[in-house]
Amino acid sequence: MAQSVKSDPWSSKAYTSAAGFVPKLTTTVLSYLSPNPTDHILDIGCGDGILTAQINSLVPEGFVLGLDASASMIATAKSTYSSTGLSFDVHDCRQLCSNPAVKSKKGGWDKVFSNAALHWILRDPDTRMNVLRDVHAALKPGGSFVFEQGGAGNVAEVHVTLIGALVAHGMRTALNDVGFEVEKLEIEYRPTRLTESDVQGSGGLEGWVRLMGAAFLERASSEKRDDVVRWVVGVLESVGRRQDGSWWIGYVRLRGVARKRE
Ligand SMILES: C[S@@+](CC[C@H](N)C(=O)[O-])C[C@H]1O[C@@H](n2cnc3c(N)ncnc32)[C@H](O)[C@@H]1O
Repeated sequence: MAQSVKSDPWSSKAYTSAAGFVPKLTTTVLSYLSPNPTDHILDIGCGDGILTAQINSLVPEGFVLGLDASASMIATAKSTYSSTGLSFDVHDCRQLCSNPAVKSKKGGWDKVFSNAALHWILRDPDTRMNVLRDVHAALKPGGSFVFEQGGAGNVAEVHVTLIGALVAHGMRTALNDVGFEVEKLEIEYRPTRLTESDVQGSGGLEGWVRLMGAAFLERASSEKRDDVVRWVVGVLESVGRRQDGSWWIGYVRLRGVARKRE
């Protein structure tokens, strides 16, 4: 068995309550998996097994192994789903091929699947490439790796607000540390209308990105910068542009009053 991560931040009960929609929003990635009845499939970061069991029902003559680092998730998976050709194991998938069941069929798995877990599994830069090498080694020649994971900007508003709360907390501590009494510290989410300009490219989101995002744009070669700006403006069009043509973006202000202690 199974090596597990040190502490288990996952609880299958909390997952079902707070994010039970995750394994349900998988029509597209499951269509890419396109299971054949005899497939042997590994599901890495399988969670409570709901999706693993669904995949198992699509491979009546095959086999599905669900692996997850969380003992809570695997306990729920084992107690909820039992079927021939379906198995679960607690395992840290950063070392995928050290799992005995994976190893015993190394180079013979038809498919490796993962939903909503790779962004956790690949987070550690020391083991990231190892995971991809192990997935490659586990698969038979021609086998496929089919995955969906969080992309850049995933749950951006929560991410930004969490960081904002930590920054506010850090600001309060830092002000206290240098001798201030913090009287007021507040965060305001303030969607803000951008200015327009008659000078091509200097107003709206384009002008704002060129000005405020200059340090980012410097990372692109000078020939690519216009493309990057166009890309950003294009991606944000649906959220930032209103029907009257004005551009709005989500300014968040941290505002405070601190008094020097006497
Ligand atoms: C959001 S859940 C997704 C579960 C399932 N695939 C689904 O679609 O419902 C993410 C899962 O990744 C697992 N996970 C995180 N790091 C892992 C690791 N290093 N090895 C194996 N599983 C891991 C967590 O324990 C958790 O069950």
